[in-house]
Amino acid sequence: MKLFDVYPLYDIHPVKGKGCYVYDEQGTAYLDLYGGHAVISIGHGHPHYIQRVTEQLQALPFYSNSVQNRVQEALAEKLGEVSGCNDYHLFLINSGAEANENALKLASFYNNRTKIIAFKKAFHGRTSAAVNITDNENIKAPINKRYEAEFHEWNDLESVRISLQKGDVSAVIIEGIQGIGGIYVPDATFLKALESLCKEYNTVLILDEIQSGYGRSGRFFAFQYTDIQPDIITVAKGMGNGFPIGGVLIHPKFEAKYGMLGTTFGGNHLACAAGLAVLEVIENENLIENASNIGNYLIDQLNNFDGVREVRGQGLMIGVEFDFPAADLRKKLLFEEKVFVGSASNANVIRLLPPLSLSKDEADLFLEKLEKVLAKVAASV
Ligand SMILES: Cc1ncc(COP(=O)(O)O)c(C=O)c1O
Repeated sequence: MKLFDVYPLYDIHPVKGKGCYVYDEQGTAYLDLYGGHAVISIGHGHPHYIQRVTEQLQALPFYSNSVQNRVQEALAEKLGEVSGCNDYHLFLINSGAEANENALKLASFYNNRTKIIAFKKAFHGRTSAAVNITDNENIKAPINKRYEAEFHEWNDLESVRISLQKGDVSAVIIEGIQGIGGIYVPDATFLKALESLCKEYNTVLILDEIQSGYGRSGRFFAFQYTDIQPDIITVAKGMGNGFPIGGVLIHPKFEAKYGMLGTTFGGNHLACAAGLAVLEVIENENLIENASNIGNYLIDQLNNFDGVREVRGQGLMIGVEFDFPAADLRKKLLFEEKVFVGSASNANVIRLLPPLSLSKDEADLFLEKLEKVLAKVAASV
């Protein structure tokens, strides 16, 4: 059987990872400034993570959500403590799209409405309801467009206000920092006003922290740069450092009912052990502070580079916009300098989403390699 061919693949075969590096079959080391798409939070092959997951694998990897699960409870407890969102309730699933899918359902159960407001260039996942509020028509099948979705300009409060005033919007969903769109940080005043408008019109405010959460921004959640309390927060990616797990953090104003949400695999013992290990390492190794320090350093340095039009982001979620399309630069970084970086829907942007453990030396090495590649790109035009 052949694989269903939906991914344009680089001809690289990673077989091993350690810290901020992945290694291919020949043992070539690649500096990972992409984190497997913001997934690798605590670094590849972390010993504490391996130990915890291995112990759980040997004890009990899975049992269903029909019995008590102490590992799930421990994860909820720890997530509340490390994120500062102790009073929220946790529902566990397996991916980011599922997290948003359940968040949208909760909102609709809550106010009995169906219209959703999202933002231009947003990405919220590929499942039924989630893809309908993703601003990319190419990835929506007719079956996905079953409810009204509006896309507003980033930071445009007035247009959101006009829409909310009609009183029929179930939820506003916004990324903590817009990721795939090209790394855009929302204005604090915009977020604050969005929170109060949502309250006024009984609309649910959903913060999609799937890419920007789990310490990546230099705070546990990117929205925590602003004094707001979202109704629902969605997480995935960095939550399991590669183990598939996602979560919905639900404000206590939502009342749980048996059967309202459910899943077979979500919150299984193995996934929760991975999730616990991630939080323990984030805490013990001060990775949020590291993301903030190294992120600030990288942003400062990158701002001095020739050919860089703009540097955006917070912590280790950085978008570098060039004066030219970045595809060739990305290829040179990967094949000549052995560095992974991410792309964005804006072709001039590269995204930096490294493990939160990135050291100053590794940051310097990346800057050196980028400078080299930029000089080659400049010489070729
Ligand atoms: C902001 C955001 N939301 C949702 C998703 C969907 O997550 P998943 O691919 O785990 O379904 C992504 C994935 O890139 C994302 O970046």
